[in-house]
Amino acid sequence: MHLTKNQEKMLSGEEGPALQKAMEILVALGDIYDADGLIPIHSAHVSGISLRTSGEAGLKFVENLADKGAEVYAHTTINPTGIDLESWEELGAPKDLVDKQRRMIDAYERMGAEPICSCVPYLTGNRPSFGKHLAWAESSAVVFANSVLGARTNREGAPSALASALTGLTPLHGYHLDENRQGTVEIEPNLELLQGEETFPYSVLGYWIGENFPESVPVLKGVKPNPAQLKAMGAGMAASGAIALYHIPDVTPEAEADPSICEVGESAGFESSDFEDVVDKLDQISEADLVCVGCPHFSLEELEKMPDSVEGETWVCLPRKLKRESDEKGLSKKFEGKKIRFVCDTCMVVAPLREMGYSSIGVNSAKAAHYAPMLAGVKVHFAPLKELIK
Ligand code: F3S
Repeated sequence: MHLTKNQEKMLSGEEGPALQKAMEILVALGDIYDADGLIPIHSAHVSGISLRTSGEAGLKFVENLADKGAEVYAHTTINPTGIDLESWEELGAPKDLVDKQRRMIDAYERMGAEPICSCVPYLTGNRPSFGKHLAWAESSAVVFANSVLGARTNREGAPSALASALTGLTPLHGYHLDENRQGTVEIEPNLELLQGEETFPYSVLGYWIGENFPESVPVLKGVKPNPAQLKAMGAGMAASGAIALYHIPDVTPEAEADPSICEVGESAGFESSDFEDVVDKLDQISEADLVCVGCPHFSLEELEKMPDSVEGETWVCLPRKLKRESDEKGLSKKFEGKKIRFVCDTCMVVAPLREMGYSSIGVNSAKAAHYAPMLAGVKVHFAPLKELIK
């Protein structure tokens, strides 16, 4: 891989041990993927923030970098932690976990990252424009950035996104290149399955696409999802498959800029039996202790549309920045007197639900339904929002 003089200096350690380590990670990846060189990035988004995903080793790695004086070069945001850092006590979270999460956030802040603690950086200010190169981890954010914003990022892991944050560079391969952004399979869903404003059907569709065409760049025909549905569908695809990009004619920006990107050979339908297969697989129980929405984290529009008829105990997971905006706009007023809680900095998959006394959750997100049994150790009721909250 070709390196500039400055990049060679970083690699040799002349610019300090943190940049040397970061360059070693990027050069190793570049060699594996046969990249010609490294390109500058507009922003980074780093995952592995919750202790559940990073473990103690991840915490020590990040603290060690911060102690060595590492600083991010590109605008960098970070994924959810394991707990709401303001209301953890009311939520019944273990203090030990909170202390470790605070150390993790502190290390990132010392390096200059913006501690948004959310998986929707594009809703909190880290919103790249068309064609920008990124190094984002968090698969749901990657697929949104590539597909809905027309930016360019591979599905980075926590170490490579952090290495890119520190150097401002990423290897030139994969979804940074035009040839890998061409649609590869056309999906023509039965539109009757996708009616209405709910995100649930699009989440099911995304999950089905990821399961059946896991390495593809799908092109969806005939659909006009709203932004929340685009977010839910991409998260579903990226959870069950390795998908990082989709196109929708007349909806997503690359399809608009170059319609030939949607010309594909293979095609498939999505019918009610496919829909039911996904629901049967993910829906384990018919009642849950706690309803959790906001996977990926809620937008203000979703909060506005959320029915106020919520009956049971409910978490709405959203970025703290949007929670503050919703308070200023009085959006949460309609839920006063309900058993609804706005949960920030974390989500239903990485929070210690079992330790907090929950053994089951109701979700409308295929991604949450996929990961919560594995990571949070809870059973899942997977259903549309209107069914969950009645
Ligand atoms: Fe976000 Fe947690 Fe879902 S990080 S995408 S809310 S699993």
